[in-house]
Amino acid sequence: MKAIDPCTLVIFGAGGNLSRIKLIPALFRLEVAKRLPEKMLILAAGLEQHSREQWLEEVAGMLNAKYPEGYDQPAFERFCTRLHYHANPPGDAEAYQRLRKTLDENPAFPANVVFYMSVRPSEFPNIIEQLGAAELLKQKNGWRRVVIEKPFGHDLLSAQTLQSGLYKHLDEPQIYRIDHYLGKGTVQNIMVFRFANLLLEPLWNHHYIDHVQIVHAETLGVEGRIDYYENAGALRDMIQSHLLQLLALVAMEPPVTMGPEHLRDEKVKVLKAIRPITQNAVHAHAFRGQYASGTIDGKPVPGYTEAAGVAPDSVTETYAALKLFIDNWRWAGVPFYMRTGKRMAENSSAISIRFKRPPQDLLRQTHHERSRPNWILLGIQPDDCLKMELQVKVPGLDLNTRSISLDATYHKGSDENYDAYEGLLLDVMLGDHSLFLRIDEVEWAWRVVDPVLKVWSMERDFINPYQAGSWGPRGTYRLFDRDDQFWRHSLEIDGADLQAY
Ligand code: BG6
Repeated sequence: MKAIDPCTLVIFGAGGNLSRIKLIPALFRLEVAKRLPEKMLILAAGLEQHSREQWLEEVAGMLNAKYPEGYDQPAFERFCTRLHYHANPPGDAEAYQRLRKTLDENPAFPANVVFYMSVRPSEFPNIIEQLGAAELLKQKNGWRRVVIEKPFGHDLLSAQTLQSGLYKHLDEPQIYRIDHYLGKGTVQNIMVFRFANLLLEPLWNHHYIDHVQIVHAETLGVEGRIDYYENAGALRDMIQSHLLQLLALVAMEPPVTMGPEHLRDEKVKVLKAIRPITQNAVHAHAFRGQYASGTIDGKPVPGYTEAAGVAPDSVTETYAALKLFIDNWRWAGVPFYMRTGKRMAENSSAISIRFKRPPQDLLRQTHHERSRPNWILLGIQPDDCLKMELQVKVPGLDLNTRSISLDATYHKGSDENYDAYEGLLLDVMLGDHSLFLRIDEVEWAWRVVDPVLKVWSMERDFINPYQAGSWGPRGTYRLFDRDDQFWRHSLEIDGADLQAY
């Protein structure tokens, strides 16, 4: 375990959704695990005029909501000694000078500082500008690092503009563009699975793989994030970032080392090799939908346009599906299907890799059930799992076959259970960029989705509806290359009800 320098973590937007639901609980879990560096302080910067005591109550409220069954009280008391609050109300010209005074003049605050931007993307440039103007980003006595949440821009051009604003005050090594999917256990396991096992490498190419599906479905709607989501939509929110990162990890060549630059070089190569979707091919490669009212967990839920703040004629997509090809030697002709949706039938994120059928079906006459191709399934959530589906003989006198699932799920009940943010927060404090995005990765990901976004932004009179609680709009089967390709909804062999929509 590498030692981490004492540091101060300043969270902008500390009272917001992300901080409540993910960051503060993740920091608390690190406290419980005794992984936070000694003397580290957490300075919450929020819009409210809270006193420190009020902030401690807020944090207790966040943890009560996260752990209604209770949590480690001695750890909570330790955690509280680290927590401080800085009021940063909008339009308060003095707020950044006060922050500078706190950080530079109060010796209790370690001089190494991480600034975490847990705010709306539109606020990133202004905060960086103000921090720069207050000389808070200069590395005088210690390091200064900035974590930027996604989305980084809303298209290629705006990402480049945001980037030039950052470079006025920061060098690349100070910037940590976070994609929390890279902190998830199964996502990191893609690399171990591929590069620590020789068995797979000969099969990992267009000779044997029929297609790859990368799917994120959630039952939640847009909740309290309408103003962000209305301008983002599912393609920007999930595919440009998280799902393209998953694609890059599945498809990349083995890096020279696992060092951050080698790893990111290989991911960039994959993104660069994605065949550009021309404007007139958008309909053949992309599909969007929006949830209408329906039922989730037996309860009726309203449609997207019924939420306050959404225009009744909004065509913001809450479902997006994309077919991509990677034009390189390994992946020539293999479709990568991606889809994501809110208010879907289940919470499930997975990568499903379907193999080709054997060149000759020698057992055609003997099948007990219809012969199925092999699959490798990497479940990301709700459960981390790794499965492989094969055909075997049914016990008995006849030569009948059936599919079985080899379950190599590596998560044992007694294993530590972390969300994605704990490891990523430690990495920022350690100065390890491996699981953070380099600017060229972000740019190439925008190049993939920009043509689709452009066409969708012009077509404003129709969007395919789907019932909340379903698997998305009908008609997405038209993305598939062949009629024996279907979305896979389940990682269970019996429930693998392959459907066309
Ligand atoms: C976020 C998106 O980045 O990822 C959300 O903005 C989405 O809309 C979330 O719900 C999904 O993350 P997870 O970790 O719950 O799969």
